[in-house]
Amino acid sequence: MTGSRQTGPATKAKELTQPYGVGYLYHYDPGYQAFERALRGAGGVVDIYEVLGVQFNSEPEALERFAATLGKPITLHSFEYCLGNVQRPPQAVLERVLRAAKLCNAAYIGEHMAFMGDNRTYAGGFITPPGTDEQNEILVQHVQTLKSESPCPIILENPSKLYPQIGPYTIGQQLRKVAEAADVGILLSLSNISISERFVPQDREEILAALPLERVKQLHLICGNEAEERMPGMEGQRQEQAWMLKTMEQLARNPDFKPVAVIYELQAGTPSLAEPERLRDHMELARELFFRPERRQAA
Ligand SMILES: [Fe+2]
Repeated sequence: MTGSRQTGPATKAKELTQPYGVGYLYHYDPGYQAFERALRGAGGVVDIYEVLGVQFNSEPEALERFAATLGKPITLHSFEYCLGNVQRPPQAVLERVLRAAKLCNAAYIGEHMAFMGDNRTYAGGFITPPGTDEQNEILVQHVQTLKSESPCPIILENPSKLYPQIGPYTIGQQLRKVAEAADVGILLSLSNISISERFVPQDREEILAALPLERVKQLHLICGNEAEERMPGMEGQRQEQAWMLKTMEQLARNPDFKPVAVIYELQAGTPSLAEPERLRDHMELARELFFRPERRQAA
């Protein structure tokens, strides 16, 4: 189901089909600059960088300069729209994020199907919208507004599960309904499924089965620090890391699953950044799984 009834030529042109490749979430801070140098020194190859829009709110022009230094396609990661909020995102927020997308010439924007509070109270975490039909309608409206104003495609990310399910729909079912109704792609975050384990564990098979895999345009997964994973007390994180890699390999066996990008997150599982060599190898694995020309050509 592509929702072609609702899409005119303008939106059709925004569909994400071009494969970008593999990369990582590059935080705008000196630690990452040093990491990037070490990664290049280790022979790591990055095809696409993900950057966090919120880090440039005080000085948007810095994003333009930063993007120029990276010299590769960029995807803008965002949680500012608060799509799940019953109130519409403030116009200033909308304009700020769209401006950021233009400044870095974003290939697409990855936004969370969540909110961080309402217009008065900041909750500080991704709150999953209660999984009800009413909530779905609000989400679809917000996504459609965003899509109509955005200079690039929008994809929706599954948030971490921070509290028990309220409505009849699981996060996976809700994301499916909203993405199909608004006709946008999905950012499947294995990281957020894994992080949910610290709060409200998710049925992992259920969420993977609920999502329309042909709509998944990006994969998020953690690449943690291997030395720290080996330390006592880190067994759980070691298992989570193994689960994410194994799940990525399982997904790659499905010919319908053709993400345009695979992005690693370096700080979501261990206190320190991954070793550059480990990220290099994990990127090579994803490149081999998803971006070989033969696989892209297969129907
Ligand atoms: Fe995210």
